[in-house]
Amino acid sequence: MSTLDIPELALVALVGISGSGKSTFARRHFAPSQVLSSDAFRAMVADDENDQSASADAFEALHHVAATRLRRGRLTVVDATNLQPHARAALVRVAREQDVLPVAIVLDVPEALAWERTGARADRTFGRQVLARMQRDLRRSYGQLAREGFRKVHVLRGVDEIDAAEIRYEKLF
Ligand code: GTP
Ligand code: MG
Repeated sequence: MSTLDIPELALVALVGISGSGKSTFARRHFAPSQVLSSDAFRAMVADDENDQSASADAFEALHHVAATRLRRGRLTVVDATNLQPHARAALVRVAREQDVLPVAIVLDVPEALAWERTGARADRTFGRQVLARMQRDLRRSYGQLAREGFRKVHVLRGVDEIDAAEIRYEKLF
């Protein structure tokens, strides 16, 4: 079992390609109200969780809610791919502005497995190349996360490690 130590109050960024199991992981380990997902915010602002043209507005709203929650002392999990430096930089900024530690949890599954899983979903229609690009972005992300300001970077490699993970909360004081 791998134990992931997380500060009681943190901004937790899930990082992983589509189909890596971020939303499943979030459901398993956190309360629904703690999880802000990019899909849910796209649906909120555009009635369509796959409307990529709504992404900028969706993330603006997501960052606003995240900041509000952190200001109120509530642990917050961001369920989005978070594969691009600019997306993560925005989360680090939100956390810092509220004096909260940003933490990353990377879910790394084989690209072929992620593709198999997304193929089974009617709500995911992107092509193989899109997933391959995500995988490249993920590989690049590894060297960058700590340097970007994430205080802890937990990496779960493969389905077994993801399955076995448990969260342990660290008291702040
Ligand atoms: P995006 O939202 O597209 O970025 O994907 P995601 O990373 O949120 O993946 P999600 O949690 O939606 O999982 C994708 C599919 O894989 C779903 O159909 C899940 O049921 C399945 N899945 C996720 N995690 C596991 C797992 O640990 N075991 C098994 N068997 N299936 C899983
Ligand atoms: Mg998801």
